[in-house]
Amino acid sequence: MTQDELKTLVGQAALKYVVPGEIIGVGTGSTVNKFIDALATMKDQIKGAVSSSMASTERLRALGIPVFDANAVAGLAVYVDGADEIDGQGHMVKGGGAALTREKIVAAQSRQFVCIADESKKVEALGAFPLPVEVIPMASARIMRQFAALGGTATLRLKDGAPLVTDNGQHILDVRGLRITDPLAFESEVNQWPGVVTVGVFAHQKAHVCLLGTATGVLTLTY
Ligand code: 5RP
Repeated sequence: MTQDELKTLVGQAALKYVVPGEIIGVGTGSTVNKFIDALATMKDQIKGAVSSSMASTERLRALGIPVFDANAVAGLAVYVDGADEIDGQGHMVKGGGAALTREKIVAAQSRQFVCIADESKKVEALGAFPLPVEVIPMASARIMRQFAALGGTATLRLKDGAPLVTDNGQHILDVRGLRITDPLAFESEVNQWPGVVTVGVFAHQKAHVCLLGTATGVLTLTY
């Protein structure tokens, strides 16, 4: 199966976690797009979604799924999202699609995080995928130096030759060369650096379940 077919498989498999009559938390990315397409087949059974990005909001609305403001919803039963890396404990690196801050917000208001990923995302230790960090632009250079002191190399993410601007009006640094052996401690430390909006390690908001697309079908991993 191709990677795209694996993404379709896990996107469809996630439907069984959707609670009828409820509002569902929806992540961002190419795997989540498959989930949104599948969700449209049962749109009459849900109230709608809280979305983690403008891109997902647009796709949900285009398919007739109502999107609610996160502030209007006290809690969500389930959040479905992809990952760039996931380790054996359900800790993830996210933000390849630059939506990490809103993803962490929606994950935090959800009781269960269901990660959908193809098997290329499963890792022993986080850090091979360049770590996305959303930052306030005036702090970029200092944060880059702080990552250099940890042995990492941070670069400013560009789009069409200019700094990429997130849905929150901020910039993204991608950090290479880190091996994140204690994701909880790493997330806590980097999060309190001045100017860091969100670090793309999801350890405090880790996955409870991962639906992993493999050549032999969907594996359900629980943490
Ligand atoms: C977006 C994310 C995505 O979930 C992550 O990048 C995985 O994306 P894809 O499903 O396209 O591989 O964190 O910010």
